[in-house]
Amino acid sequence: MKITVFGIGYVGLVQAAVLAEVGHDVMCIDVDESKVSNLKSGIIPIYEPGLTPLVQQNYASGRLQFTTDAKAGVEHGELLFIAVGTPPDEDGSADLKYVLAVAETVATHMQSHKIVINKSTVPVGTADKVKAKLSATLTQLGKTDTFDVVSNPEFLKEGAAVNDCMRPDRIILGTDNPKAESKLRELYAPFNRNHDKVIAMDIRSAELTKYAANCMLATKISFMNEIANLAELFGADVENVRRGIGSDPRIGYQFIYPGCGYGGSCFPKDVQALIRSADGVGYAARVLEAVEAVNYAQKEKLFEYIMRHFDGDIRGKTVALWGLSFKPNTDDMREAPSRVLLEKLWVAGVTVQAYDPEAMEETQRIYGSRDDLKLMGTKESALAGADFLVICTEWQAFRAPDFELIKQSLSEPVVFDGRNLYEPQRMLEYGLHYYAIGRGLSVQGQ
Ligand code: UDX
Repeated sequence: MKITVFGIGYVGLVQAAVLAEVGHDVMCIDVDESKVSNLKSGIIPIYEPGLTPLVQQNYASGRLQFTTDAKAGVEHGELLFIAVGTPPDEDGSADLKYVLAVAETVATHMQSHKIVINKSTVPVGTADKVKAKLSATLTQLGKTDTFDVVSNPEFLKEGAAVNDCMRPDRIILGTDNPKAESKLRELYAPFNRNHDKVIAMDIRSAELTKYAANCMLATKISFMNEIANLAELFGADVENVRRGIGSDPRIGYQFIYPGCGYGGSCFPKDVQALIRSADGVGYAARVLEAVEAVNYAQKEKLFEYIMRHFDGDIRGKTVALWGLSFKPNTDDMREAPSRVLLEKLWVAGVTVQAYDPEAMEETQRIYGSRDDLKLMGTKESALAGADFLVICTEWQAFRAPDFELIKQSLSEPVVFDGRNLYEPQRMLEYGLHYYAIGRGLSVQGQ
């Protein structure tokens, strides 16, 4: 099938590459000329396991094209994906200007029936706005072409995006026209083997499904972080509690890992956007407000531990920081807990020696050159000359470090772990003072 994807961001690029891989003929459109020319030379703008060869091979075979020519894009696809960004505006609502700009472009250039598919995470009611934009533009231009608008949210996780797209748990199709639904079923047939993963529904329910999924996951995390904070106050160990409750299949083991807060491009933005949307229909989303408030506070937790340990006297110290990305296997630092920590440490007069397996360039891009930020080539070099160690991301490479080296390198043998990577008892045996999230044992070590 002939497909066009508007927006070569995370979602658009992965979706386009995967659709090309199964044989569809995909054209990607973006306004950013340098991004397009880089992709043509095989330079991928994001780090995502498995994506580079997928893009390069499909580009070489001609099934995947990149251009800034929106007119060509509209002509090419019978199915047109909108995968542009919906950044939060000032009050946290999703800003639809890029989505609606694509709708206008589509209406301007279309010459035949088109199915427009909302892939971006958009508030409930956006499909109606896209329809209205298409209709108004067509009327203005005196055109009589017809279209369908479909809601088909993505559920890919960064770091596992290619696999999530290739082997989706579910394919949500929100349509109001059986013909459009059957076209979409045809499109996704290569990913819909073994058992039917398509869950078809009305458009508004599909739009809300995406928010509900992300907000439920964010709720699990904030809930668990609250339990971790209680565990600490009660002298319990949240890791035991986690295993204890996860064994109940109604709760499950996933997304109940306590830590220094959730980040990324989805959870913080989507929780906020749903709170704003709820507000717009006169409903106070109290659970979601609490989820957000707990997460906000959780991102300050490591700094609080540090201040508590050093009695607030940290000016002039040097910290080794392991992990900058918001989670492992990505270079993405959007809403990363490390950023809250970095910025608080700098205000407090601390120099940071940071190491991350993938996010060094991104850190440099965000913060530029500054005297109190040293980007180190290895986790070991980050330790050299540092006073203490902080961990913000659970990269595999941090799971079994040389604890002797840590102890020898640091002027104070203390580790602040925002991801509960180590056993407190073992750390005590190594002579390391260990702070983790919600682990009563760590507090006893004081
Ligand atoms: C998320 C959703 O999982 C995905 O379905 C959606 O399409 C986009 O948003 P992503 O943001 O890539 O994906 O990352 P995810 O793996 O879900 O982690 C989000 C954040 O939650 C990370 O900061 C992670 O460290 C944190 N997290 C996750 C926890 O703190 N504890 C957990 O138990 C799980």
